[in-house]
Amino acid sequence: MIPEPLVAIVYLISAALFILGLKRLSSPASARVGNILSGSGMLLAILVTLFDRAIVSYGVIAAGIIVGGGIGLWMARAVQMTSMPQMIALLNGFGGAASLTVGGAELLRAEVVGEVLAVGASTTIQLAVVIGAVTFTGSLVAFAKLQELMTGRPILFPGQKVFNGALFAAIIALALYQVASPEPLLWPFYAVVILSLLIGVMLVIPIGGADMPVVISLLNSYSGLAAAMTGFVIGNHVLIIAGALVGSSGLILSQIMCRAMNRSLTNVLFGAFGTAASVAARSSEGLTAKQLSAEDASIQLAYARLVVVIPGYGLAVAQAQHQVRELAELIEKQGGEVRYAIHPVAGRMPGHMNVLLSEANIPYDKLITDVDEANSILPRADIAIVVGANDIVNPAALEDPGSPIYGMPIIRADTAQRAIVMKRSMASGFAGIENDLFYRDNTYMLFGDAKQTLNGLVTEIKQEIGAGV
Ligand code: TAP
Repeated sequence: MIPEPLVAIVYLISAALFILGLKRLSSPASARVGNILSGSGMLLAILVTLFDRAIVSYGVIAAGIIVGGGIGLWMARAVQMTSMPQMIALLNGFGGAASLTVGGAELLRAEVVGEVLAVGASTTIQLAVVIGAVTFTGSLVAFAKLQELMTGRPILFPGQKVFNGALFAAIIALALYQVASPEPLLWPFYAVVILSLLIGVMLVIPIGGADMPVVISLLNSYSGLAAAMTGFVIGNHVLIIAGALVGSSGLILSQIMCRAMNRSLTNVLFGAFGTAASVAARSSEGLTAKQLSAEDASIQLAYARLVVVIPGYGLAVAQAQHQVRELAELIEKQGGEVRYAIHPVAGRMPGHMNVLLSEANIPYDKLITDVDEANSILPRADIAIVVGANDIVNPAALEDPGSPIYGMPIIRADTAQRAIVMKRSMASGFAGIENDLFYRDNTYMLFGDAKQTLNGLVTEIKQEIGAGV
């Protein structure tokens, strides 16, 4: 056993490392260091806990680390960048399940030894169990939706909110009954577990595809809260701190995403986004989009002074980040300037575009992550290249009060002298609505997979430059 004050000091150092790491995660330039700092804090916390606690069997823990760590390593290596949200959903779910089992085990232990639980201990057990169970099944449903194992559209039925309200009331009543009872009771405990697992499913099924990343961030926050409650249950300070940090940062991230989509959290949770899209979608009948050849596009790009690249989900699908950098280098070689306008909800997860562009070694100082700042330079841009983006450049967000994305801040590709849109077809984006930008006078479509299109442009521009046109 390690002396108590030493454990407290190491836990304090771990907590400080978590906070310093989190702070550095707020910028792509310092994120790697942030990750290392937080990871080191976690390693310290795990080591000291392993030596401090009365461990029953190090063999079982080692086996768990080898099997769990092996599966985790395989998942992290195998997962496609576009499937990260699903993986995060699963990991949140496992966090919830861990809190549920630890909280439950503590109650069962007290029941077996006939211990009378204090009100505080009993309350935290109930919270760990309820939040853990909701996080577990809610995350599994989120995973199934994103992995397309079930429909991604909201699932609604008459009386749904009343049913959920009744479930919620029953859980609170049963949990309070347990807290008020002097001895641990098994039947209300099992009932709370079953009802909480059910409400986890019920809370996520009415949420539509485009809102899923917000829900995942919220479930991440729940998993942190559940972990903090578990920290109270087993009297572990670093678990309380780490859980609180996860809980609060998940909530802040959910709010940032909601703000970027001009939605409220209540609207995301209860608004069933996606059901009215077909009604509100603008009709494109009678409108034609102009196409551009790769040759014409390359000539325009080779002589542009300011080009703003607006990446979206399609960039991630095509994995075209390296080709974007190659194109930018050619434009810069010709004396042009290239900037990148990053929308906060471009792609499918927070920071999605930043990660991709940094993987291609695109300098951070060329990234504009503030929508207003990007929109202030776009009117000066000769060309805005929209690479696999759709909803985040859709003018309906500003102009069509009936649109489901009305009010969402967008990157104004339509204000550049000319917009070149790279995508494979006229298909809609995540929100499932048409995009008027494609039919504007100054917009030109360049159809095809973004990576192939960009490769084609790079080849053409090299020929232009070589030919000295
Ligand atoms: P989207 O609106 O989803 O549009 C992506 C476009 O990429 C599609 O229209 C698709 O058109 C095109 N595409 C797909 N594969 C391609 C490929 N291989 N090559 C070229 N183009 C390809 O993406 P966005 O503009 O980035 O907007 C993000 C959406 O996700 C928003 O609705 C946002 O609210 C939602 N969302 C995001 C987040 C976060 S945190 N990022 C959170 C919540 C919600 P084609 O099929 O015609 O190629």
